[in-house]
Amino acid sequence: QLIPVILCGGAGSRLWPVSRALHPKPFIRLADGQSLLQKAFLRGAELPNVKTVLTVTNRDFFFKTEDEFREINATNIATSFILEPYGRNTAAAIAAAALQIAKTHGPDTLVLVLAADHLIADQEAFQKAVLASIELAATGKLVTFGIQPNAPETGYGYIEADGNNVLRFIEKPSREKAQEYLASGRYLWNSGMFCFSANSMLQEMERHCPEILSETKRCIERSRLAEGKDFTQLELDSNTFSSVPELSIDYAVMEKSSEVAVVPCDIGWSDIGSWTALGDLDEPDAHGNRTQGETLLHSSRNCTIHSNDRLVAAVGVEDLIIVDTPDALLVTEKSCSQDVKHIYAELKTKG
Ligand code: GDD
Ligand code: MG
Repeated sequence: QLIPVILCGGAGSRLWPVSRALHPKPFIRLADGQSLLQKAFLRGAELPNVKTVLTVTNRDFFFKTEDEFREINATNIATSFILEPYGRNTAAAIAAAALQIAKTHGPDTLVLVLAADHLIADQEAFQKAVLASIELAATGKLVTFGIQPNAPETGYGYIEADGNNVLRFIEKPSREKAQEYLASGRYLWNSGMFCFSANSMLQEMERHCPEILSETKRCIERSRLAEGKDFTQLELDSNTFSSVPELSIDYAVMEKSSEVAVVPCDIGWSDIGSWTALGDLDEPDAHGNRTQGETLLHSSRNCTIHSNDRLVAAVGVEDLIIVDTPDALLVTEKSCSQDVKHIYAELKTKG
C-alpha cells in the first residue's frame, strides 16, 4: 500500500506580499480555480491503489484544508491529518508521518511525500515516475525525484546522479556552486517529493538525526488522537513539539544518507516557490510580459505584473516583477526573486 503524505506548511516567504502568514502559498488559487493544495491532493489520490491521504499541516489551517479537500474529493479517499501547533520544518513533519503510518499501517508501508506548493503538468509521466520510485523504495531506498535543471537556482537541492544512484545531495548551494553544477550536466534538482518505506526513513533518521526522531516520538506519545468516521486527526502536543530540532529533511537526512536514490523524471514540474516560477505559468505577450489584473505597459519587456484592484502601469522597464496588493507593493528584479524572503523575514521580526 502507498500512502501519499502532503506537507502543507511554510509561509511561502518568497511569494510575499501575496503569500502572507495567514494565506500561505498552498492556498493560492490558479487560473483554473484550483488551489495548489487541491492539486497536490488529487495528484496523490489519483494514483493507483491509494485509499488514504495523510496531510501534515498547522492546526490553524485544519478547517480551511478540510474545506478545500471536500470541494474536490469525489473519490471517497479517506483523509487523515497530523496537526502541528507550529512548524518545526519538514524533518519533524516527515518523522511524525512515518511514525504514525508505521504504527497504523505497518512499518513496510510505502510513503509518498508530496509538497503542497508544486505544479506538475504531466500527470501520466508523474504516475510512471511514482511506479519506478515504488520499486526502489521497496528495496529500502529513500527515493528522490530528479528534475533536469535549467538555471543556477539556489533555492533547490542538487543531486549528483548516475542513473538511479545518488553520488551526492547538496541542499541550497551557493550561486557559484549552483553554476558549476549546472555546467557539469551531472546534477538534477531535487523536486522535494520523496518515496520510501516508513521503516527505512525511520532507520535513516535514527542514524542521522536521532534527536529529531526521539523528540517527535516523545511528542506523539503525548498527543491526542481524534478518530472520526472516515478520518483520524492527530493533534501534536504543543509543549513537547517545541523541543524537536527545526531542520529540513534535506539537511537532516538526504545530504547525509547513503540510501538515497533518484528517479530522473520529466513531468512538467514547477515549484511555485518564487515569483519567477509563478510568473512563468501565465502565457507571455509578444514582448515577454506576463500580467494578471488591470495593467498597462509601454516599451516594457519580460516583466511579471500582478495587480489586485488598482491599475498598474509600467513604462520602459525590463525584467521586473511588480506585485500590488491592498496593503503592500513589491518591486524586484527577476534575478533577485529568491531574495524576497529577506523582506518577509524582516517584517516578521518587526512584528
Ligand atoms: N507540515 C509542514 N510543516 N509542512 C512544511 C513545513 C512544516 O514545518 N515546512 C515546510 N513545509 C512544506 C511546505 O509547505 C512545502 O510544501 C514543502 O514542505 C517543502 O518546504 P519548502 O519550505 O517549500 O522547501 P524548499 O522549497 O525551501 O526546499 C525543498 O523543496 C525544493 C523543491 O521545491 C527542498 O526539498 C529542496 O531540496 C527542493 O529542491
Ligand atoms: Mg518550496
